[in-house]
Amino acid sequence: MLERLVYVSTAAPDLTLPIVRRIVARAQIRNRQLDVTGMLLYVHPEFVQVLEARSEVLDEVVAHIAEDPRHRDIRIIERKAITARRFDRWNMGLLVTVALAQAVQALKAGELSVDGLIDAMLVDADLL
Ligand SMILES: Cc1cc2nc3c(=O)[nH]c(=O)nc-3n(C[C@H](O)[C@H](O)[C@H](O)COP(=O)(O)O)c2cc1C
Repeated sequence: MLERLVYVSTAAPDLTLPIVRRIVARAQIRNRQLDVTGMLLYVHPEFVQVLEARSEVLDEVVAHIAEDPRHRDIRIIERKAITARRFDRWNMGLLVTVALAQAVQALKAGELSVDGLIDAMLVDADLL
């Protein structure tokens, strides 16, 4: 079964943008092997990550990510079955923008749906 998981987390205080880029570069290689797609949104100091993968793969990848000391306060916002991927072009895209800061706060407050945030992410992602 194909599933989507979305979480928010807070970057470790010493995390720099070059390190984030390196994490994503490595993640892309691993995700390609595992057929994981998604997008990592970094609105300093917060991350929102959307992961799309088969259930068993998702369990494994999320377990790894959750143990990573380079971020903390991981809060899963959604995990659900999906019929189609929304980030099929990205084994892991990286979106660094403050333009979505309000959207992230709204997501956390339950005032914006995950699909609403993904719509906003895709507008920027299409420019990548
Ligand atoms: C914000 C964030 C997002 C990450 N996203 C992914 C990802 O999509 N796929 C992945 O394999 N690793 C991702 N990682 C890295 C994993 O936490 C972990 O370092 C990686 O899976 C390698 O694990 P290993 O060294 O135990 O083999 C991410 C790390 C952070 C901090």
